[in-house]
This record gives sequence, structure tokens and C-alpha cells, in this order.
Amino acid sequence: MKNNVLTITDGRTDKTYSLPIDHGTIRAMDLRQIKEDAEDFGLMTYDPAFMNTASCRSSITYIDGDKGILRYRGYPIEELAEKCTFLEVAYLILNGELPTETQLQEWVYEVKHHTMLHETTKKFLEGFRHDAHPMGMLVSTVAALSTVYPEARNVLDPANRKLQIVRLIGKVPTIAAYTYRHSLGLPYIYPDNDLAYTANFMNMLWKMLEPKYLANPVLARALSILFILHADHELNCSTNAMRAVGSSQADPYLSVAAAAAGLSGPLHGGANEQVLKMLDAIGTKENIPGYIEQVKAGKLKLMGFGHRVYKNYDPRARIIKWTADQVFQVTGRNTKLDIALALEKIALEDEYFIKRKLYPNVDFYSGIIYQAMGFKPDMFTVLFAIPRTVGWLSHWDELMGDAEQKIARPRQVYTGSAERHLPAGKPTIGVTVSA
Ligand code: CMC
Repeated sequence: MKNNVLTITDGRTDKTYSLPIDHGTIRAMDLRQIKEDAEDFGLMTYDPAFMNTASCRSSITYIDGDKGILRYRGYPIEELAEKCTFLEVAYLILNGELPTETQLQEWVYEVKHHTMLHETTKKFLEGFRHDAHPMGMLVSTVAALSTVYPEARNVLDPANRKLQIVRLIGKVPTIAAYTYRHSLGLPYIYPDNDLAYTANFMNMLWKMLEPKYLANPVLARALSILFILHADHELNCSTNAMRAVGSSQADPYLSVAAAAAGLSGPLHGGANEQVLKMLDAIGTKENIPGYIEQVKAGKLKLMGFGHRVYKNYDPRARIIKWTADQVFQVTGRNTKLDIALALEKIALEDEYFIKRKLYPNVDFYSGIIYQAMGFKPDMFTVLFAIPRTVGWLSHWDELMGDAEQKIARPRQVYTGSAERHLPAGKPTIGVTVSA
């Protein structure tokens, strides 16, 4: 019979320890008993960037990076993208099961009735410069909602958490659309409850003087699919930020703002904007080999390539390519696609990328679709943040209900100076505290 135990012999003391193995992990705290002597603090693990550390148990999202598998609550991402609406998937992620018809109707109704912003929040947005980056505006405005809903601080009450979750899922697209309207100096458009989630978002972005904005159904569905693909991705940088900040029992608006700040960086959700900049910089197919050489020389990164977990094709990138075909039938082909396809082909055949298992990730093609749909590149990461809000909140709710969790507080390996003292002649300022 299998013995689920790890036996460790400490070479310093020749003592042997047996540590239980559960779900392919040992508990880091079990290492603390391994000491050189009674004074010793005990053994810790050292894991910069959390390359091999599980910090929670979660039943939300499953990824097998080697096989290129992504599932929400057990359902393959391909099936969800093909057959569900975004709010259906959001319900699944948050509640663990797909909604019945009645549950879905109630859920959609609830979200729709939390889409409006307090008028003071609109005034808050007025304070940003016209050229402020939409992610900076989004992060700050979501944080500002904390002042509008002070009862959100009661994070230990599940019913209160549920209300804030619906509010955030309802309001984040409105804030996102208003950052765009603000940057163009256009009046804000109120939400339209007749419209579905993505169609309403498009209405708030692009409605002008027509009495009713009607989104192109193919584009609205494409956006819904993109939102499904971005809804959760287990413990990425921003979700880790959500859990870390949420673990201090900060309110969900401040925690989502922290998570969105994590998303904004070019190595994470900010990559989609960078891909477009990179394709612009490359300009023509002829320039691709020269660009690849610079990447291989370590001077540049191929944005939209590589992933911490996927060491096979990112399954989301495959669905995005399929979605691109649908979008381009409506919008016409984005000429950047040809450069992207040629770049991908050359990279996938190159030893540098093969050896490091670098494949296109979700951000490689999403920007090309977003641009064809009419979004400005600085809005791309905001488009990532809207659906990921569902994932962040789902993880937050799971965290709050997890009796094993405590405030997140990693240890460090101190590498600074040993104790030393100020020069003897340095005068005291005010109180004398040492003998
Ligand atoms: N271009 C060129 N080389 C790369 C790239 C890239 N995009 N990504 C990784 N490498 C190289 C890296 O230099 C290293 O080479 P070496 O072993 O010679 O030092 C090797 O591949 C391993 O990379 P790593 O940096 O140790 O991998 P990581 O897991 O720490 O980083 C990553 C993952 C996504 C941050 C990184 O691949 C990257 O910076 N990619 C570009 C930015 C990007 O597209 N980010 C979006 C990620 S997916 C969506 C999301 O999470 O938001």
C-alpha cells in the first residue's frame, strides 16, 4: 500500500522526520519542527515568486498547465465559451453550480439593478486628467466605492458579502465605460436594463445621440466569450493580491482595487496593451526576424508569449483565435493579425521558444480583436479587469469562509547587517529610551 509520507533526514543532526503528504503537498509548518538545536527557529521554505507553493485549497478553477486544460468548477472552458452567457458563467464561478432558469433570471435581474453609480462617483471621475490611463482611473474609482458603501467592511457576514459582490459585478463595467467616456470628453451614458451584460457595456461606451443603442449581436457575443475566458485563472498575481489584501479583512472594494492594480502590470493583464504596441513597433513581416533576434538576445520580451503555468498552448488563446474569425467577418480583418500570425509561426519553430516552452497566451490575440471592435489599446486591460472581478470576488468569498486561512504574512530570509550602533557622540533628540 502507498505510504503517503515524506521521510526527511536532517544532515546537520542525523534526525529523521516523517511528514504527511496530502494532495501532493507537505505542510510548510511541518518543517518548523526540524531544528539544529532548541534555540533554532526551525526550517522554512524559500520560494521567491511562489514558484512551488500552494497557499490555499480552492474548488473554483482547475488548470493543468502541461496538458493545456482550464476548467471552471469542473466544466471545460471550451464548453462554457460555446454554450453559456457571461453572467451564467459568473454565477457558476461564484456559486459552484450552473444556475437553473429561475436562478439565472434572478441573478441577471440583481446584477442589472446594481449597475448605476452614485452621482458623487461620477464627480470623482471628473477629477482625472483627460489623458489619465483607464486602469489608474478604474483602480482608484473602485477603491473610492469603499467610501460609498461603508457597510461593506462587515466582511464576515456572508449575506453582506453577497450584496457587495453583486454591486461590484454590476458597477465595474459602468466605471470602465465612464473612464473611456471621460478620456474622450463625452457625457456618461446611464446603463440600459433592457440590454444584456456585454451589450449594455457597449451601450455605455458607444451610445451617441440615437434614442437606443443596439450592439452588433456578433460583437456582443464575442465580448461575452472574451469575458468568459478571462473570468478566473486561479492564483495569478492579481488573485493572489485579492486574497492577500482580503485576508486582513479589508473591504471588497479596496481588495478588488488592489487586485486590479496587480493586473495592470505588463507581465500580467497589462500584456494585451503591450502586444499591440509590440506589433506596431514591428510594423511589417520583414522586421519579425530582427525582432526575434533581439528577444533571444534578452533585449526584448515577446509580449503575449509565455506563462507561469501553461507549458503547452494556452487553451484560451485557441478559443480567442476562433472568436477573431467571427469578429473579423463583421469588422473586417485587422491587418495586425497577419503580423501576429507570422510572428507566432516563426516563434513556435524557433529553438529558443521550444526549449523554454513559450507559447502564445490569452493576451496575444485578444488585443487584436479588441482593436477591431473599436477599443483603444489603453482600454484592453480594463476589459480584462471587468470579467476577472468575478474571479477575484469568488476567491475572496472562498477565503472568508475558509476556517484554515489567516492574515497572509510570509516570512523572509534576512540578509542585512548584523546589529550595529550609531556613533557614540550622536546627540539624543527628545526622550532617552536606552539605558
Ligand atoms: N519572451 C521572451 N522570453 C521569455 C518570455 C517572453 N515573453 N517569457 C519567458 N521568457 C524566457 C525567460 O527569459 C526565461 O529564459 P531563461 O530561462 O533563459 O532565463 C524563461 O523563458 C522562463 O521565463 P520566466 O520569466 O522564468 O517565466 P515566469 O513564469 O517567471 O514568467 C511570464 C511568466 C508570463 C511573466 C513571462 O512569460 C512573460 O513575461 N511573458 C510576457 C508577458 C505576458 O505575456 N504576460 C501575460 C501572461 S498570461 C495572462 C496573465 O496572466 O495576465
